[in-house]
Amino acid sequence: MSVNILGIETSCDETAIGVVEDGRKLRANVIASQVDIHSRYGGVVPEVASRQHVLEMAPVLEKSLAAAGLGLEQIDAVAVTYGPGLAGALISGLNTAKGLALALDKPLLGINHLEGHIYAAWLTGQQPEDSPGFPLACLVASGGHTDLILMEGHGQYRLVGRTRDDAAGEAFDKAARVLGLGFPGGPHIQRVSQGATGQERLPRAWLKDTLDFSFSGVKTAMLHLAQERGIYPLKKGQTADAAIVRELAAAFQESVVEVMVRKLLDMAEHYKAKGLVLGGGVAANALLRQETARCSPLPVIIPPPILCTDNGAMIAACGYFQFQRGLQHGLDLDIDPSLPLG
Ligand code: KG4
Ligand code: ZN
Repeated sequence: MSVNILGIETSCDETAIGVVEDGRKLRANVIASQVDIHSRYGGVVPEVASRQHVLEMAPVLEKSLAAAGLGLEQIDAVAVTYGPGLAGALISGLNTAKGLALALDKPLLGINHLEGHIYAAWLTGQQPEDSPGFPLACLVASGGHTDLILMEGHGQYRLVGRTRDDAAGEAFDKAARVLGLGFPGGPHIQRVSQGATGQERLPRAWLKDTLDFSFSGVKTAMLHLAQERGIYPLKKGQTADAAIVRELAAAFQESVVEVMVRKLLDMAEHYKAKGLVLGGGVAANALLRQETARCSPLPVIIPPPILCTDNGAMIAACGYFQFQRGLQHGLDLDIDPSLPLG
């Protein structure tokens, strides 16, 4: 008998519900993005995100079940992100999950968002626990986190490196703002970097002898370079020279990606990992994907970009393995905006 888990994700600005069969088979992955709404403000406005989740939840649920070809009665458990993330946003998802679990009389599975990002690797057609096998060296890089996590088994994590200031995604978003690009910044920086000649270079913060990251220095260095090149701040009516924007964007992307790849490889070597996993929105970055695959002597699992950015399917996949271990939550489960992993 197959097990179908519904996964609900509302930790930030995507209202997302996925359905996954037996932890590996993607049956539905519906995502209502609020990007257009928040891009007007240049970042996610928490209050707006919460209200938008309330509006989107029911239609996204209906679409997700329709895409999966399942009725609610065929769902075996309801998984939901309960942290880390924005409090008001998390509450919408958790309350929906509680209502469904109660009405259907099915288990409620509270999921750590970062753990969910790692489990997107199980939706790639691979079975990472068998091939390459544990331990796995995981980089979860998103708008709020840049964590190196050693996954020693299902549900077993050690946080061995993290950012000391900005998260990688946050740095991409801030750099994009300086360059006059839209929100979220990562995809824009990637797009405008194409065709760069490599004539600009920004520093790398190696923070020797640690697996921690720091991205605030490169962000400030880019701001200074943008000022020097005369594209920040722009005068009224002035548009930034596209070639300068391209070179700065590429230099920024290269600096951030090089440090992440190097530290992930160092971690894998130090902890004798059998394989690498990328997850989180920044793992959608083409240069990061390409460089990790190119430089790694170990097998690398990188989910397709749509499963790297926030989605409900990864929450459902993670929920399945939690369910298999007999872990479930009561209806008194509360959100935890700063829930740690490892
Ligand atoms: O995981 P995610 O969707 O949401 C959070 O949990 O934060 O990650 C969002 C972050 C944003 O900062 C966005 O700029 C970044 O992921 N991102 C990218 C790319 N696509 C999304 N960063 C670099 N390159 C990309 N292609
Ligand atoms: Zn995320």
